[in-house]
Amino acid sequence: LRPDLKKPDPPKKCKGCRDPLIIKALEQYSQTWTKQQNNSQNFRALLRSSCDAVNNAIVTQENTPTGTKVVYDGDPKRSMVVNTAIFNTFPKRTPFSSKLWGTCAVVGNGGIMFNSTCGKRIDSAQHVIRCNLPPVEDIYLKDVGNKTDLVTANPSILVDRFGSLDRRRRPFAESMRRYNDSLMLLPAFSYTGNTVLSLRALYTIEDFEGVIRPVFVNPLYLLSMDSFWRNRGMMAKRMSTGFMMVNLALELCDDVQVYGFWPFSEHPHLAPGSAPLPNHYYDNRQWNKVLHAMPDEFLQLLGLHSQGILKLHLGQCG
Ligand code: CDP
Repeated sequence: LRPDLKKPDPPKKCKGCRDPLIIKALEQYSQTWTKQQNNSQNFRALLRSSCDAVNNAIVTQENTPTGTKVVYDGDPKRSMVVNTAIFNTFPKRTPFSSKLWGTCAVVGNGGIMFNSTCGKRIDSAQHVIRCNLPPVEDIYLKDVGNKTDLVTANPSILVDRFGSLDRRRRPFAESMRRYNDSLMLLPAFSYTGNTVLSLRALYTIEDFEGVIRPVFVNPLYLLSMDSFWRNRGMMAKRMSTGFMMVNLALELCDDVQVYGFWPFSEHPHLAPGSAPLPNHYYDNRQWNKVLHAMPDEFLQLLGLHSQGILKLHLGQCG
């Protein structure tokens, strides 16, 4: 190859310098935040007309009668027909109402929550939404709080932490007590393997008389949310659970406060070159980069923050 035809070297990332994406994000973020009531209402109306979380987010006996062919949203070639046994596990009607919930805190699991001292502020929200059965033990209380009104449970956690619930199931039942009587969202119809695991979780909670309320996420709701964001340029294979929960909150709550969303290893406020942030506030297990595009989601959240539609918390609460 002639030297003058060689591809130019990519610009060298200078040691100790910030990633340009992060510089841009922090510039946009540092503007003072005020809630824009009009923008909030318009965005809620837009989401409600496209996704309708109140009536569609959860599979119910009303929206999914016996005999319905349910198509898996993560694997649309696969479907299952609802029989009486499965139908009987659905709540009669939606657990949500069109009356707005007031202030909601949506808590992502980002390492940014560690030492955030946001626990009290999170717990002061009228409704707290958490993702993927996160730890809320005393050691994390000061940073993430422990009030939980809604929590998602990805079946992969049931596999990794609770042996797929095909052996002793008491540890799972007992571990769920920490979330009190919150609503537990299981994506039972996203992939075929999720169905049996979600049913096992639901039966375990019933058999051990747990007070947490397991419900199944409606794949039609997730598909509508997916096309809503695809029309706005998001091309990831699948939205992250946290991003889905922010969308849910934007329909259900008047005021949406977002914590723990920072999918970068550079700390937003510590000097560049400081020790990298772990992915979670409790471990450094990485997210699936083939499936999700969390930085793109973050930029969307930042856009909503700039428009006064939600408030993104990146700093310490003090
Ligand atoms: O299983 P998944 O990777 O989707 O989620 P998680 O690691 O349990 O975290 C819950 C949610 O927090 C994610 O779905 C993301 O939306 C958000 N998150 C983030 O924004 N930044 C991180 N470093 C970690 C999680």
